[in-house]
Amino acid sequence: MQCVWQSIWIFGADGENRENNKKIACKEIGITTLSYELPSTTGHVEALQLIDKLNADPEVDGILVQLPLPAQINTIDIIERIDPSKDVDGFHPYNLGCLAQGRANLQPCTPMGIMLMLQHTQVSLVGKLATVIGKSNIVGLPMALELINADATVTVCSRTTADLAAQVKTADILIVAVGSPKLVKGDWIKPGCIVIDVGINRSADGKLSGDVEFEVAKERAAWITPVPGGVGPMTIACLLSNTLKANMQRVK
Ligand code: GUN
Repeated sequence: MQCVWQSIWIFGADGENRENNKKIACKEIGITTLSYELPSTTGHVEALQLIDKLNADPEVDGILVQLPLPAQINTIDIIERIDPSKDVDGFHPYNLGCLAQGRANLQPCTPMGIMLMLQHTQVSLVGKLATVIGKSNIVGLPMALELINADATVTVCSRTTADLAAQVKTADILIVAVGSPKLVKGDWIKPGCIVIDVGINRSADGKLSGDVEFEVAKERAAWITPVPGGVGPMTIACLLSNTLKANMQRVK
């Protein structure tokens, strides 16, 4: 069986290939990858045509459009154009809709990886208070849906939540995905809380940190993910898993 994953990268001004880890992981496990590395001036129609080509190619199992896209390209239209059966990111409205109805197939990779980590703790989520900070289509929104499907009681917050500390202090499970360094103070964490930090923030000296004040929070949390090395590798593992799933659902 051959498994093929193709990605579309439309680079912004820096032109840096930040997500090379995805391709390295594919190579390690034998998924063939091909990336279209397009200039930041690429037009909307050109991007749509490339997706149409990959949709029609029977050799292609998965399509990933690396986000964010340059301003001239409408992200919603682009995601909607991907054949849902090849949408290994799980961002297509059909796949998100299936997740919302509790019948997920291709699920967004970061929330899926987080659910696997939560399962690993062997802590039941049923009836637990779960707070998600961030409501993006990539992480916060599908994360909340995953937790609702697991019968947790879910609160979704954002940077504008009136008393964020109060929402965090009641949480048994806390997922933070806003991209704001040390937004969540360590002493807000309820003792025994499971803390998942999705933030990746680079400081002026090049160091990475999360959205949670890790050093203080780790003294109170039962489980906590580091940045880097926590959620990121799980996202990649789930991308590989989705690609294999897309392949197996297509190969009869
Ligand atoms: N940009 C940041 N995270 C992601 C992701 O999981 N998938 C894609 N396609 N783009 C991203």
